[in-house]
Amino acid sequence: MQHQRHTPTRLLLAVAAAAAATGQATAQTSMPMAAAMADAAPAASAVSPIALVDALNGVFGKHSARSSHAKGVCMAGHFEAAPAASAITSAKMFQVGQRTPLIGRFSVGGGNPKAPDNAKSVRGIAVRAGEGADRMEWIFISAPHFFAQTPAQFLEFMKVRAPDPTTGKMNPDAVAAFGKANPATTRQATYLASQPVPASFATVPYWSTSAFIATNAAGKTQALRWRFEPVAGRLGLSDDEAKAKGADFLRAELSERLNKGAVVFSVMAQLAQPQDQLLDPTDPWPSDRVEVTMGRLVIDRATDQACDRETFIPTVLPTGIAASADPTLAARASSYAVSLSRR
Ligand code: HEM
Repeated sequence: MQHQRHTPTRLLLAVAAAAAATGQATAQTSMPMAAAMADAAPAASAVSPIALVDALNGVFGKHSARSSHAKGVCMAGHFEAAPAASAITSAKMFQVGQRTPLIGRFSVGGGNPKAPDNAKSVRGIAVRAGEGADRMEWIFISAPHFFAQTPAQFLEFMKVRAPDPTTGKMNPDAVAAFGKANPATTRQATYLASQPVPASFATVPYWSTSAFIATNAAGKTQALRWRFEPVAGRLGLSDDEAKAKGADFLRAELSERLNKGAVVFSVMAQLAQPQDQLLDPTDPWPSDRVEVTMGRLVIDRATDQACDRETFIPTVLPTGIAASADPTLAARASSYAVSLSRR
């Protein structure tokens, strides 16, 4: 696995690769599935990526780290395909016996590079496995809900949280009114408030929230959502334990854990029924949908911070997996590239 520094050319290539990858969707979704898959190619976002990153910077300030999920730890390992995966997708890394090296990054949500590890905020994971047309990038969060249905709603969600220039503080009444007018944007916060602070990056599940479209070797398509389920179990801290841990424990905890053995996640695909919506990442499908174990993520080492020169883009997908038409998915490649250019 190569760690390349992003030059402007490489940045353009990354965006072009994302566009090419998302373009696969039209070709790969001509087979029957949900009616919504007919328009599976992500629409170009009407909201400018610069406005999206400006809005993040407006809330979290400008600094040299990522505009979102600013605090994180780089890691590496490999992905092992499970036997059932090749029936779902023809992508190389999911074929029987495949073992694919990966690099990745765990993160704490928000654009604050000093975000506390002991808050009930979202955790993130980014993974890059495979090369060229076989490359897969997974960028997930530790909640089954994203906080915005569209890029326009993301923009408004951030803008209403920007500090008032006169007081220097966020206006809680305006935030509450926005939540009332846009109830889907409150689902993530409600979920996170119901969960303990994760004891480790390795003991919390991560969801794609967005849907993807898999195509198998016979050309059959299947809409799915991803989840990484921690093999160590879902383990959280009590409020007192979280307080005692302090604001910076996740990096050291991960190193100590990796000294004892690999961190493993089961890679699960939740399969959509034809009636399931594919556009709204705030709204999970019913929990009775069939889940297939697609493989195992095996993370065996924390690395230097080389991944801070990378950007992981969720529409960089291998042949055999395509993006759905979820508009937040379409907005990510360009806004991530803008964020990279500001680091
Ligand atoms: C309109 C929708 C979204 C916008 C505008 C947005 C914006 C951003 C930006 C600007 C970054 C920094 C990228 C970089 O500098 O490399 C970022 C990082 C990240 N985002 Fe998003 N995001 C969106 C949706 C999502 C969703 C749906 C998820 C997961 C379910 C997600 C998870 C993450 C994670 C985990 C990172 C850190 C990636 C890493 O470690 O490199 N984002 N986001």
